[in-house]
Amino acid sequence: MSVANSGTIDLGGKTVHRLGYGAMRITGPGIWGPPKDHDEAVRVLRRSVELGVTFIDTADSYGPFVSEDLIKEALHDGTGYGDVVVATKGGLTRHGPDVWPPLGRPEYLRQCILMSLRRLGVERIDLWQLHRIDAKVPREEQFGEIKSFLDEGLAKQVGLSEVDVDDVKAAQAAGLPVASVQNRYNLGDRRAEELLDFCTEQGIAFIPWAPVDAGTLARPGGPLDAVAGNHPGTTTGQLALAWLLRRSPVIVPIPGTSSVGHLEENCAAADVELTDEEFQALTDAA
Ligand SMILES: NC(=O)c1ccc[n+]([C@@H]2O[C@H](COP(=O)([O-])OP(=O)(O)OC[C@H]3O[C@@H](n4cnc5c(N)ncnc54)[C@H](OP(=O)(O)O)[C@@H]3O)[C@@H](O)[C@H]2O)c1
Repeated sequence: MSVANSGTIDLGGKTVHRLGYGAMRITGPGIWGPPKDHDEAVRVLRRSVELGVTFIDTADSYGPFVSEDLIKEALHDGTGYGDVVVATKGGLTRHGPDVWPPLGRPEYLRQCILMSLRRLGVERIDLWQLHRIDAKVPREEQFGEIKSFLDEGLAKQVGLSEVDVDDVKAAQAAGLPVASVQNRYNLGDRRAEELLDFCTEQGIAFIPWAPVDAGTLARPGGPLDAVAGNHPGTTTGQLALAWLLRRSPVIVPIPGTSSVGHLEENCAAADVELTDEEFQALTDAA
């Protein structure tokens, strides 16, 4: 079993397999504090790499700090992460479970990346993403500070999260080379369709978060069951991931899980081949 058949994309200074792993779920409830099972979290991270995952998404605010710390503990080889791109984010503060106030002041964004460098144990972040544009701070000020991360060699590439086409164009106009965009997108939530098409045209990586709709698309009994019937042994969650991989070559799904069993199931989606008719049926079903 391997994610090799998900295809590749150049991102974070390396060529990575498109089916990645999202490391938000290896924390406590409300993405706050340590995970219920620390050892299983470490196993999930190590197993993901064994299965060929070379793109791992995290953020300083997951825990906070817990996810980045676990990635360092599980995967750092003394010098770095080898072939694996560890993409992190900054720009959200944490005040408690499920509370994430944005803070985009340049001096805070700088603190975010400097502390992520220390926690992850690297000299440069492969891909640093602005978790949210802070509406209280002019967006050009945030873009300018992030550009300085590239100029100073603190990050190899940078990206944005939960933005629209106008935000990406404004960042580009401010001289920021946007390597990736991360928005909520899955079979049942296509609000970012216009942004995805823009990214596809521009060759910007599109990282859909909640790719299995936080588990909903992985549950049987939904509209995906009809297509699942054509693929004995294939789960609806795998179909949702296969649909994303097929939807655009710039899509890099990052399903999140705290269990090795679910990780293995999600990674096996790389081997699910959809016919044109099935792809269309899934597109229409949700
Ligand atoms: N940029 C942003 O603002 C933003 C926001 C949210 C998330 N993200 C990133 O995107 C990643 C993915 O998003 P997400 O974790 O919210 O949603 P997701 O990947 O759609 O779903 C994760 C949830 O679904 C469950 N799940 C996963 N695989 C499953 C399977 N095979 N069968 C049954 N249940 C399964 C997980 O529970 P178990 O742990 O029990 O498997 C978890 O609760 C995150 O990990 C994070 O890296 C980014």
